[in-house]
Amino acid sequence: MRSDKYEADLIEDYLCQQHWEDYTKQDHAVWKELFNRQSKLLVNRAAEEYLKVIPTLGLTDEGIPDFRRMSEILHKATGWTIITVKGLISSEAFHGHLSRREFPVTYWIRKPEEIDYIAEPDIFHDLFGHVPMLMNPVFADYVQAFGMGGVKADNLHYMTYLEKLYWYTVEFGLINTKDGLRIYGSGIVSSKTESIYCLEDKRPHRIGFDLKRTMRTDYRYDKLQECYFVIDSFEQLFEATRPDFTPIYEEVSKLGIIEPYKLQPEDKVFTKGTVINESH
Ligand code: PHE
Ligand code: FE
Repeated sequence: MRSDKYEADLIEDYLCQQHWEDYTKQDHAVWKELFNRQSKLLVNRAAEEYLKVIPTLGLTDEGIPDFRRMSEILHKATGWTIITVKGLISSEAFHGHLSRREFPVTYWIRKPEEIDYIAEPDIFHDLFGHVPMLMNPVFADYVQAFGMGGVKADNLHYMTYLEKLYWYTVEFGLINTKDGLRIYGSGIVSSKTESIYCLEDKRPHRIGFDLKRTMRTDYRYDKLQECYFVIDSFEQLFEATRPDFTPIYEEVSKLGIIEPYKLQPEDKVFTKGTVINESH
């Protein structure tokens, strides 16, 4: 029989300590290069809500930050804390942590030869990409609500739809501002190529955010996106996702999946793309 102790050991297997003192010169140099490059690129591209908290959080070009300090600053601002993980964790564990306002951050950093692309999220993506948006009170609440919704979606076996919402908002979201479209998605702000491509390239579609539309849209996790969804405000996103998703999942599952390069007649199109992959 499984004891509670056994369960607890299993659950915590993916957690670890940052061991900040153990980073090498090379690790800090990789951080510095990524930080400098993205900081320059993100001026007038990333959302103000994202950019303004970078110095507050102690994110600098000096090297990899110490989680303990950053977590304290974050906790004072919005009640979130950083927890350290070895890498990707199960969907169940991930949503459980989000629902308790704990954000899992990977401790290791990519090698110099992986500077432009890594298949798995490292500390630069997790920290530089995700943590700044958690300083925004509305977004902080959205991500926690998402975590609670994740536990439910898992039980209902509708994770496939919630996953798409996460992808097109938290990871690859754009926001419309008086100065034009801006980036808030972590997958974009941590990528050199995509932070230019998502705003300036002619190929992808940029479509107004609609909950069901977003949940139905497929994505490719290892390629540049073929479409982006644009929110008007973080309040809009929070309000749109407030209702109970149970009936929405049922409806969406009947409506079916949409390929990311296909526009729908009811789409509110910001920019119609020329489509990235010519074979479509
Ligand atoms: N309202 C959603 C539900 O009932 C929870 C949720 C909130 C999901 C915010 C995503 C984002 O499942
Ligand atoms: Fe991520």
